[in-house]
Amino acid sequence: MALSHIIIITSMLLCAHVSALENGLARTPPMGWLAWERFRCNTNCAAYPDNCVGEKLFMEMADVMVSGGWKDAGYKQVNMDDCWMAKQRNSQGEIYADPGRFPSGIKVLADYLHAKDLKLGIYADFGNYTCSGYPGTMGHEKDDAQTFAAWGVDMLKFDGCSSTSDEKKVGYPLMSKELNETGRPIIFSCSWPAEDGHVPPKINFTLMAEICNLWRNYDDIGDNFEDVIKIINWFADNQDVLIPAAGPGHWNDPDMLIGGNFALSPDQAKLQFGMWAMLAAPLFLSADLRAIAPEYVKILQNRQIIQINQDPLGMQGRRVKTSGPFQLWVRPMWGAEQAIAVFSTSTGGDVEHFSFTMAGLGIDKPASKYEIYNIDNEFETKVVGLNDMITVAVNPQGITIYRAKPGTTKIPHFEYEVKEELTFDIL
Ligand code: GLA
Repeated sequence: MALSHIIIITSMLLCAHVSALENGLARTPPMGWLAWERFRCNTNCAAYPDNCVGEKLFMEMADVMVSGGWKDAGYKQVNMDDCWMAKQRNSQGEIYADPGRFPSGIKVLADYLHAKDLKLGIYADFGNYTCSGYPGTMGHEKDDAQTFAAWGVDMLKFDGCSSTSDEKKVGYPLMSKELNETGRPIIFSCSWPAEDGHVPPKINFTLMAEICNLWRNYDDIGDNFEDVIKIINWFADNQDVLIPAAGPGHWNDPDMLIGGNFALSPDQAKLQFGMWAMLAAPLFLSADLRAIAPEYVKILQNRQIIQINQDPLGMQGRRVKTSGPFQLWVRPMWGAEQAIAVFSTSTGGDVEHFSFTMAGLGIDKPASKYEIYNIDNEFETKVVGLNDMITVAVNPQGITIYRAKPGTTKIPHFEYEVKEELTFDIL
């Protein structure tokens, strides 16, 4: 898409009426790297100098995000998680980084990232303690927000351990307000739904979108394919509640990308990445990018998938059908384009086939013809009618994704022009 179109779309989206946290941030799902799933709470730098939670880890990851092409692919955030703090606040009650592991301090780390055109994310917890037992923010909301802003932090993941449901109702809106009052643009990621019942009536997604840019919905991901499928199925089972909650500036967050670690095969990593794109999910890699195998780099830097994820319409995809091991999903995109995913949880050894029609996708006001291509084969565009059968070959525990747009001219997708006005209301 030409830069001028991106600018037009962006400015139209900024004007669209959305009842959301209007800090102007995260108009498309944020992208970056997050330490937690891969590096956990490893604080033993004496024994594990290369893998402990300390400034060396984040600086090295930033270096490789630039040299390894991650930044150019759109991954800009370098995010710390739990266990960065000293075990107690200082004598003035201020939060500060463990001086042994962060000898230069967080401000220097932020400057280091900013000099590379990257951004720093930090972690705190509303309760008395973080989930790993470090100092919580309860009672220090203003001071911590000011501290983060003074350091040059660009994003805050705000966890909810060690606080009650009633306390969260006060704490999350308060922290949102305090962050806004710093005057620094800070993307606000709330773990409230994950920590408090996941869905209504405990969680009010209208409020969530008013105070947070993204929110962790569900259980923590671990390094296994079962978690990936469990999360996808939970998102499908709750899609009627979750889809209307998401949009530019406010996103559901199914947790980190784990491709490139120990557990997922390339096909499974591709499945997770493709489905996170269909879900309009924040894309946070949690792998050791210093040592990731090239086939995973290719998967996680796939521009077609990133383009689907970053689609400016910002509409979350929907599961249309399950059939045996297959699931069929569709995500409406800008310009009446559709992203279509078919994945399989089959453990059979062979490629299996699944068929669908455009008419069967439940598209609102479908066109009579679509130009459609498999993103692994983007120059083989076909024109199909609404009832033409499209047969997909899917690897066991793999995914195949198509893009389809109205028309018959087989224009390569990246050349067509955006002409329509965008009018929509979210929540
Ligand atoms: C919770 C969160 C995780 C991680 C840990 C840190 O479990 O959901 O993502 O931040 O806390 O302790």
